[in-house]
Amino acid sequence: MPRSSQRLSSEVPAEAPGVSGPSPDVLVVGGGLIGLVTAWRAALRGLAVAVVDPEPGGGAARVAAGMLAAVTELHHGEQTLLALNLESARRYPGFAAELTEATGHDLGYRRCGTLAVALDADDRAHLRELHALQGRSGLDSEWLSGRECRRLEPMLAPGVRGGLRVDGDHQIDPRRLAAALVVACERAGVVLHRAWAERLTLAGDRATGVVTGDGTALTAGQVVLAAGSAGGRLAGVPDAVLPPVRPVKGQVVRLTVPKRHAPFLSRTVRAVVRGSQVYLVPRENGELVLGATSEELGWDTTVTAGGVYELLRDAHELVPGITELPLTETRAGLRPGSPDNAPLLGPTGVDGLLLATGHYRNGVLLTPVTGDVMADVLTTGVLPEEARPFSPRRFGAAALSEQPT
Ligand code: GLY
Repeated sequence: MPRSSQRLSSEVPAEAPGVSGPSPDVLVVGGGLIGLVTAWRAALRGLAVAVVDPEPGGGAARVAAGMLAAVTELHHGEQTLLALNLESARRYPGFAAELTEATGHDLGYRRCGTLAVALDADDRAHLRELHALQGRSGLDSEWLSGRECRRLEPMLAPGVRGGLRVDGDHQIDPRRLAAALVVACERAGVVLHRAWAERLTLAGDRATGVVTGDGTALTAGQVVLAAGSAGGRLAGVPDAVLPPVRPVKGQVVRLTVPKRHAPFLSRTVRAVVRGSQVYLVPRENGELVLGATSEELGWDTTVTAGGVYELLRDAHELVPGITELPLTETRAGLRPGSPDNAPLLGPTGVDGLLLATGHYRNGVLLTPVTGDVMADVLTTGVLPEEARPFSPRRFGAAALSEQPT
């Protein structure tokens, strides 16, 4: 979705585009998890919805490990985000059951818990602080000695000095989730346009749709920009409402646990090693996902020897036995980072243009609540209570006109 320097001030594009079919109520730009869940939930509320994306179900969902880690990924200063993360975690069982019911797809949703461990005295001090913060935030987590950690997960390194057991942090397989959402959308009547959104179109101060890479004009009553980090550079979006999102690269390695080694790990295991997050997410089908680097390198998605080396080195310190496992895949993706690490949800200062982006490290976790929030605001024009702190207007610039929120 290249961003040109051109700014559109009217609905008339530079070249006369072809026009595609009748206008739906809602056009969602971006067919990753956030775009698809927005489309599905809005369609279930009776809206006519279309999605524009060259590959619906692709994007960061192909790379993400799928941890639903509201408690173990808690950070100082992110209490507001915690409330939304917990709300989404609370909705996950019902959401997953409904999606499976609608599609027949198994989503790889495992309520297996997470163990965050410490390898040295500094890590242990850091985890103790996290434990205290979790306690102050009313969250359930249990401190374990190194021996207790190894009793729970015998593959852990003998040097593990202690850890936090969090039974409420689960996992889902993001690839299965994305595939199911594509099917759910199709069954709910969502039209999928397999094309790039080249630029937003406006009529005066109102968003009217997009022009695709092949010059087709797609119009709709409301447009939702849900294109992850690419949403920050869609041509035609007025500067004042352009989402302040940036790509944060994450490299991930996938290993396979042969049946003779199973069970290898029974839950997600994670740690901070030399200041970097490393996690191992075991799936029921034998896949073991190791993630993830966090790199501010713009739009680069190269898998590097250094990135893979660091992940394997750090994961090996936690679980030495990983070196025996076949390495089956390496991949890099882009998290949509926002200035406060929280998503941007709801109307902007341009009539008819809404955002659902900036989910950063929590896109998979926030999928259920984002779908519900966006369906609410698209049908009623009012942003529900739980999403108000995440209005794009908190960044001050999105105020070209006033809309009810
Ligand atoms: N939530 C894990 C990650 O972004 O790496």
